[in-house]
Amino acid sequence: MFKYQKYNYALFGNPVHYSKSPVIHSLFAQQTGILHSYTSINVSLKDFYPILYNFFQKNGKGANITVPFKQEAYAFCTELTQRAKIAKSVNTIQKIDDKHFLGDNTDGIGLLSDLIRLDFIKKKYSILILGAGGAVKGILFSLLSFGCSVFILNRTIENSKKIIIQFQKYGNIKIFDRSLLDIKHFDLIINATSNFNQEQVNAISLSLISPKTFFYDMNYQKNNVFFIDWCIKIGANFFSNGIGMLVFQAAHSFLLWHKILPETDYIIQFLNKEKNILSKQERV
Ligand SMILES: NC(=O)c1ccc[n+]([C@@H]2O[C@H](COP(=O)([O-])OP(=O)(O)OC[C@H]3O[C@@H](n4cnc5c(N)ncnc54)[C@H](OP(=O)(O)O)[C@@H]3O)[C@@H](O)[C@H]2O)c1
Repeated sequence: MFKYQKYNYALFGNPVHYSKSPVIHSLFAQQTGILHSYTSINVSLKDFYPILYNFFQKNGKGANITVPFKQEAYAFCTELTQRAKIAKSVNTIQKIDDKHFLGDNTDGIGLLSDLIRLDFIKKKYSILILGAGGAVKGILFSLLSFGCSVFILNRTIENSKKIIIQFQKYGNIKIFDRSLLDIKHFDLIINATSNFNQEQVNAISLSLISPKTFFYDMNYQKNNVFFIDWCIKIGANFFSNGIGMLVFQAAHSFLLWHKILPETDYIIQFLNKEKNILSKQERV
């Protein structure tokens, strides 16, 4: 146990009560021996800037930002990493001094690291992404730079169009349109919606799925398993929840703050056992 805490770190969002980030960061701190106190802070939109600013004026050294404040965090930062600049979205902030804050986005490297761990991704894969929200902005640059083609299917077509305009210079990205598809089936389907439901199921023709298709649910909450249930129902052979992405994105925040990349595998196993939602990959 640490006798004192030199600097504070925190997750800001609304809601944050479900978050596993404090547990993950305390395991990183134990593992590396770095003094690192990490709490979660639920804020309203009105209070987000004053509370975040106040946190950094006191003992705050770094912050993670989750739904719905990643765009606000992007506007708050005075400097940005390349991936945060491209995503126009920030999930990690590092205080430089009282007036300067570096914004980063570790969602993309977090997802890619987990897809590689699971052996769910290869160059030239065709990927269908369900959703076009803040998290998708964070992951697209990583997937496109890896050499994959991406198709976006989202409830609000305007949001899909905006995301295509933002990312088309970084690789092959299109709006999902069954009639224009020149591929037989998707190699990987990623659920990046906050509410996967029957409407999306109806939009995905089973002819676009093969026994080799990988399925990844960025969600990891116990009460949000409609996508995983659907994977099981259609007999998918390879699927996973988003616990691994969560742990890897946290590890890359920790790397930005402390210049050490912590071990992740045992934490992913631990959290998956705790939640009792094992991916099929991890069951075998
Ligand atoms: N594992 C991880 O580390 C990790 C990291 C980041 C995010 N996530 C998860 O990823 C998910 C998305 O996060 P986000 O930040 O992108 O949220 P967001 O910015 O609020 O975007 C939500 C997305 O879900 C869609 N959506 C919401 N309700 C819907 C409904 N009833 N029917 C159809 N589509 C619906 C939205 O479509 P519209 O455009 O039509 O509104 C939008 O595309 C969340 O569940 C979050 O927990 C996981």
